[in-house]
Amino acid sequence: MSPSTSATPPLPERFRGAAVIGGTHGLGRALARTARDRGLHTVVYGRTAETLSDDGLHPRHLDLCDPHSVRDTPVDVPSPCYVLWVAGAFLKKTLADTTEDEVEQLTRLMFTGPVLFLRRLLAAVEEPVHLITVASSSAWKRRERESLYCGLKAAQATIVRNLVPELRAAHPENRITLINPGGLAVPDFHTGLALDFGAMMDPDHVARIIWDIAADQRRTFTEVQILRSREPGSEGTPEVSYGARTPQAPEEPGTATAPPAPTPHP
Ligand SMILES: NC(=O)c1ccc[n+]([C@@H]2O[C@H](COP(=O)([O-])OP(=O)(O)OC[C@H]3O[C@@H](n4cnc5c(N)ncnc54)[C@H](OP(=O)(O)O)[C@@H]3O)[C@@H](O)[C@H]2O)c1
Repeated sequence: MSPSTSATPPLPERFRGAAVIGGTHGLGRALARTARDRGLHTVVYGRTAETLSDDGLHPRHLDLCDPHSVRDTPVDVPSPCYVLWVAGAFLKKTLADTTEDEVEQLTRLMFTGPVLFLRRLLAAVEEPVHLITVASSSAWKRRERESLYCGLKAAQATIVRNLVPELRAAHPENRITLINPGGLAVPDFHTGLALDFGAMMDPDHVARIIWDIAADQRRTFTEVQILRSREPGSEGTPEVSYGARTPQAPEEPGTATAPPAPTPHP
């Protein structure tokens, strides 16, 4: 399905704020600007928040790799609010070539830091709260030399799915949206890779789709795939589908061999 997006569909009126973890660049920045344009008091977290030039956003320095920053950065946001977990960084390397420090830093950035920060943020905001998480299609797609990145994305998706029962028990109007995007035209994210960004999704368009999905969400939990079209002539157009995906087999397509038939017991 190729979604249409309206310019400014209304968000539920009771929501007053948005906290965007990783809202300074790329998709997070697009999500933050859209939140602001839809009338939310929008707090933007990131290491470069101080340099943010957008009017009407409320920047706060946060370094998810620094335990002190994760522990001490203010978490007050006008409630009820949306909380967006967007921060991340890409790493394309074999695990053998990945240094101990890279494992440590990427795990802090993409898992430990956000989990500890969310723990504080969710405790501080008044309910209901709507958590929107940007994981990735890399959580279920077959990739090469991306095992750490893919594993951390799968962990992000899994922890969020398993937060659903406790958030629903805490307040019946709490909501969780899990978004798995495919490739976005964010050159800084793919530093050093020669990619055709014309065939990737526009982050502003994807941000509007995400906010439309969040505004329409009635169920406690929704998982959404936003993948780029590969159809000639519409490459890079976002295609939205709902529900989780089964992880792809790690073998190269066409090389998977059937497991040997079990030997019957004598
Ligand atoms: N680009 C893609 O093709 C793609 C596809 C699927 C999923 N995603 C996911 O979408 C999310 C956004 O990606 P993007 O393409 O928008 O990347 P991006 O432009 O590089 O933005 C990454 C964001 O994460 C923040 N961040 C990085 N390190 C941080 C740290 N130590 N502490 C706090 N914040 C930190 C950055 O803020 P500061 O630099 O200010 O710290 C920035 O706001 C990521 O989770 C990514 O995995 C991306």
